[in-house]
Amino acid sequence: MRWARRTVPAVAAAVAALAARDLIQRDHALLRNFPVLGRARYLLEAIGPELRQYIVAGNDEERPFTRDQRRWVYASAKQENNYFGFGTDNDIEHTPGYPIIKHRTFGRAVPPSTPTAGHDVRLPCAKVLGAARRRPRAFRPESVVNISGMSFGSLSGNAIAALNRGAALAGCLQNTGEGGLSPYHRNGGDLVFQLGTAYFGCRDEQGRFSLDRLKDLVAGSPVRALEIKLSQGAKPSLGGLLPGAKVSAEIAATRGIPAGQDCVSPSRHAEFSDCDSLLDWVELLAAETGLPVGIKSAVGDLGFWQELATLMRDTGRGIDFVTIDGGEGGTGAAPLIFSDSVSLPFQQGFSRVYKVFAEHDLHEQVVFVGSGKLGLPDNAVVAFALGCDLVNVGREAMLSIGCIQAQKCHTDTCPTGVATQNAWLTRGLDPTSKSVRAANYLRTLRRDLTKVAEACGVEHPGLIGTDAVEILDGRTGSTPLHEVYGYRPEWGLPSPADQAEIVRLMTAQAPRGGSAPPSATAVG
Ligand SMILES: Cc1cc2nc3c(=O)[nH]c(=O)nc-3n(C[C@H](O)[C@H](O)[C@H](O)COP(=O)(O)O)c2cc1C
Ligand code: SF4
Repeated sequence: MRWARRTVPAVAAAVAALAARDLIQRDHALLRNFPVLGRARYLLEAIGPELRQYIVAGNDEERPFTRDQRRWVYASAKQENNYFGFGTDNDIEHTPGYPIIKHRTFGRAVPPSTPTAGHDVRLPCAKVLGAARRRPRAFRPESVVNISGMSFGSLSGNAIAALNRGAALAGCLQNTGEGGLSPYHRNGGDLVFQLGTAYFGCRDEQGRFSLDRLKDLVAGSPVRALEIKLSQGAKPSLGGLLPGAKVSAEIAATRGIPAGQDCVSPSRHAEFSDCDSLLDWVELLAAETGLPVGIKSAVGDLGFWQELATLMRDTGRGIDFVTIDGGEGGTGAAPLIFSDSVSLPFQQGFSRVYKVFAEHDLHEQVVFVGSGKLGLPDNAVVAFALGCDLVNVGREAMLSIGCIQAQKCHTDTCPTGVATQNAWLTRGLDPTSKSVRAANYLRTLRRDLTKVAEACGVEHPGLIGTDAVEILDGRTGSTPLHEVYGYRPEWGLPSPADQAEIVRLMTAQAPRGGSAPPSATAVG
């Protein structure tokens, strides 16, 4: 037993030292929150591929994000090697609906040769937001990839701060979500302010919308655009309730509500009740703030979109942008039936709405934003081909700052401190180091989009047309994207003038393409 008397204290001391180290380090939220125990996850992650050969789950089996997809985000965020070896393990030929991007052998744009080339390339929007309607504060978004609306309240303050700093580093926009503009949103990143049904952050004591408060808020913060939230893909037409226990003093101050009391978000807006009054409200907000104004919505019945486009065409009023959220999109919490079955998935919903605007000849005047797992390059490329000008990333950005897809966002026990208000768990997430990860991920996505665009022979993802994508039928055939969604061949692209300008902006950057100069005997 003498060995035990010597070994046990030594082991205990080693464990204590390890625990202290885990508690102090700032790279891994999981280890800061669960010292020593959290290491099991990293061990399992490291030996997972070997174990899985003997157990069950494959690289493409988990949802909403497969292991391959998560690995790509994690590696990109850490600027580690995000390549995959040995070739695809997707069952391409036998998967119906699988999109294939068609590269060109000789294109206008020359792809860069090194893996990191293009990492710092500027990738601005091909349209100027608010220009078509001459909004005084119209601007060209610097990045085609931006951070989707996720409220302070559903995400922790540290997560919001990490994303905001990441947005500043990567030169992109962060949408506040409907929970108001918190101190965590003031870390240098530009914002899109979202107005939900409860008008958090711009409401009076009775919960009514207050234009004066909105104007004060906009005047004192880097808000570049306003987004009226009509619905969200994961829970359209539903209100929400934040239980009083979660309404901390900070959340109360941000939202403009009393602390400690249940906080209800109604299912409908009080400021408008149909398309006509919605357009009046859009024009009022734009006139009073000078900002571009858009709407965010999931897609169900198309009647709303038909009426909206007809009114825009006939009356001259209009939205500057529309964000279409797919039914596969994320949420902090929602009833299963809504997440699983209400509203169309992104590609179907987006293409229907785009067509309505195109049939009314409005598609070149509206900036189209997409969301719903578009933080993965393959999905994003299809979105751009269908006519998206910008993509918003939500859960993929959460993955980049440490989310492990534990899917406990609705329980306030998020182990990585991303989606919780629990002070101990939130403490684990270091906003400084995670902001760098968020920025790395955003830049890598932009780089991949640039590379794919160049492989297709164009300078910018917004110039990828529907002819560049085919959808396989899982047997022997495939259908061009424009046929699948009933597009006319010219749809999905910006106006000729916007195309010329974005080509000019992209080619004005440092020359890319890594070849040596042609030899004296070159023939072309
Ligand atoms: C935790 C969480 C909170 C969200 N909060 C909001 C919100 O306040 N307003 C909103 O419009 N969408 C909200 N969303 C939806 C996202 O903005 C986004 O539209 C959706 O998740 C699809 O993008 P993704 O697939 O990249 O996550 C939230 C999503 C998540 C995961
Ligand atoms: S609960 Fe899980 S899925 Fe939700 S943010 Fe936290 S780690 Fe991610």
